[in-house]
Amino acid sequence: MRHFLTLKDYTKEEILEILALGFKIKKKLRKGKFPPYLKKQTLAMIFEKSSTRTRMSFETGMYQLGGHAIFLSSNDSQLGRGEPMKDTARVVSRMADMVMIRTFSQESLEEFAHYATVPVINGLTDLYHPVQLLADYMTMIEHGKADEPVVAYVGDGNNMTHSWMWLAAKLGFELRVASPPGYEADGIVIHETVTEAKKSGAKITFFHDPAEAVQGADVVTTDTWISMGQEEEKEQRIRDFEGFIVDDAMMALAKPDAIFLHCLPAYRGYEVSETVLEGPQSVIFDEAENRLHAQKGLMVWLDKQRNED
Ligand code: CP
Ligand code: NVA
Repeated sequence: MRHFLTLKDYTKEEILEILALGFKIKKKLRKGKFPPYLKKQTLAMIFEKSSTRTRMSFETGMYQLGGHAIFLSSNDSQLGRGEPMKDTARVVSRMADMVMIRTFSQESLEEFAHYATVPVINGLTDLYHPVQLLADYMTMIEHGKADEPVVAYVGDGNNMTHSWMWLAAKLGFELRVASPPGYEADGIVIHETVTEAKKSGAKITFFHDPAEAVQGADVVTTDTWISMGQEEEKEQRIRDFEGFIVDDAMMALAKPDAIFLHCLPAYRGYEVSETVLEGPQSVIFDEAENRLHAQKGLMVWLDKQRNED
């Protein structure tokens, strides 16, 4: 049985296998077919932070696969009143077939997975957001940007950055990360991904000047400057990220046919301009939709692994 806690635990072949399943299921859906790969199964979705896309995509995906999803938020479950992760994990495992969790620390996700007896999926932690990257890479493939791409990530060294770093390290492409001083990616993740990159042929480089990173890129991406849980730092961050907006001038430095990705929610006028977000290079709604298809591939893949045990 496998969990999906970070891309670090996955090989290139496994990532591509999951996406191939996602594409296959997407194609069937387009023809109006809903193969019940997860018939009568239940996915427990535990949210300790807000969500629109993650909840929508997992809940809809599970329904389309013949199963059912249950939404548990810390506000109205016993987790919010202090029930430990390790107890919740064992209780939920007795009733659900799979679990998706969105929480704060990667450690509490790992603790949950340690005690769970069903596959656990990371629906975002402070450190990683790996399901988003499945959708992002699916979108790159669909837009013809998966052949030795140069990806430029502009902004905060956060859960999205770390996940991009692992995706690049595993798949072997070039990733350039530009962040303001003091907002660089986590040092351990840098060390681990740069080490992995040496094996896969990836190139991961870091900049303080976004223009340098974006120069000639095939894919430009960014994320909010203020992640969930950092609301109190808002004013300081807005000051510190000056010059890091992906606007038309920034996009003009990338290749003319470059695409723009954003995991969303986006904050117009901060990390991205209205014109880029709504412009012809932006494929953000394809990207958002691919959350559904990529995660269906993931859930079916995790179920297959368990059945092969
Ligand atoms: N991109 C993403 O995970 O969105 P939500 O926070 O709306 O789930
Ligand atoms: N970095 C953002 C991603 C939201 C999907 C956050 O953690 O809030």
